[in-house]
Amino acid sequence: MSDLQNLLSSPAGLALAAIGALTLSCYAWNFIKLVTKSFIVPGYNLKKFGAKNGRWAVVTGATDGIGREFALQLAKAGFNVFIASRSMDKLEAVRKEINDANSGTNVQVQVHAIDFSRRDAQAEGEWSRLGDALKKLDIGVLVNNVGKSYDIPAYFDDVPTKDNEDIVQININATMRMTQIALPAMLTKKNGLILNIGSFAGSVPGPMLATYSASKAFLSTWSQALADEYKSRGIVVEHVHTYFVVSAMSKIRKPSLLIPTAKTYVRSVLKHIGTGAGAMPGVTATTTPYWPQAFMSWFIGYLPRWFTIRWTHNLHIDIRKRALKKREREAALAAKTK
Ligand SMILES: NC(=O)c1ccc[n+]([C@@H]2O[C@H](COP(=O)([O-])OP(=O)(O)OC[C@H]3O[C@@H](n4cnc5c(N)ncnc54)[C@H](OP(=O)(O)O)[C@@H]3O)[C@@H](O)[C@H]2O)c1
Repeated sequence: MSDLQNLLSSPAGLALAAIGALTLSCYAWNFIKLVTKSFIVPGYNLKKFGAKNGRWAVVTGATDGIGREFALQLAKAGFNVFIASRSMDKLEAVRKEINDANSGTNVQVQVHAIDFSRRDAQAEGEWSRLGDALKKLDIGVLVNNVGKSYDIPAYFDDVPTKDNEDIVQININATMRMTQIALPAMLTKKNGLILNIGSFAGSVPGPMLATYSASKAFLSTWSQALADEYKSRGIVVEHVHTYFVVSAMSKIRKPSLLIPTAKTYVRSVLKHIGTGAGAMPGVTATTTPYWPQAFMSWFIGYLPRWFTIRWTHNLHIDIRKRALKKREREAALAAKTK
């Protein structure tokens, strides 16, 4: 008898083999789901939420990066778009871009200047001004995109209190506020889509980006809970699990296989709505829509947590070092040209 036959002839050996086979089958099944949802299963057609039917898509943080692309691509798909950011000049530039790209169609654009970090005496007035503008619209889609991170990775005791509070205000409080403004009209119609732009920093605790990381973990848990609350009432809530994308926030200028441009990224988000593509096992109402990032997320999901936290910490130490060196070079250059 071979060793293997010996092992399988005992009840304990058989039980071990069965557990092994079951574990391997689970990995294989999850991998098959990853591949089919990334490449084959179609996402919801945007017409389901009112594209080409006069409904509005509301996008926060829409003058740059991922938000600007959502505004452009949702307009192209046939939504009227309402875009909100701080700078009216940049909003007007995006309005013009959307109008130029959609001339000859009925697509309308509204712009609204607001600073989502405000928590002074005027903040309530700003929110009611925004609420009044949105009340008039038939909102089919809300993209909670606006977000703030650290300028560069830093240890918590070095992060200015204002930065920590701005992150919580923008990433958490403004997102809840926007959702409470948009939901009633969606519920009346029993139809709507809410996309919350999350981050890998929310699924793997990010040392040296602690407050940002925790704010995105909030977004993940909150989105999954909301999705279940409103599923039976016609509202799709989705947490969009995002690794690096070329943008001002990431400070990455060149795309690569793992780090797409905002255009490529948003195209993949809009293609995968409702598929759960690339979600880690056990995580609901979430997509990791861009396939190289989905495969990475799947792989990370099986690594020990202590390892991914350590790896992320080292990555952030490295990013901080390079950012400080760049600042030194820029300061030296500025001193020379004075
Ligand atoms: N890029 C990445 O690698 C990455 C990775 C994971 C997750 N994400 C998430 O994706 C989302 C978008 O990021 P991004 O990289 O596209 O950012 P971005 O290029 O820096 O754009 C940020 C947008 O938000 C607006 N904004 C910033 N602060 C604001 C405030 N206080 N009030 C109102 N509007 C404000 C900016 O316009 P104004 O300056 O005109 O206000 C701009 O339109 C964020 O939630 C981010 O956490 C990004």
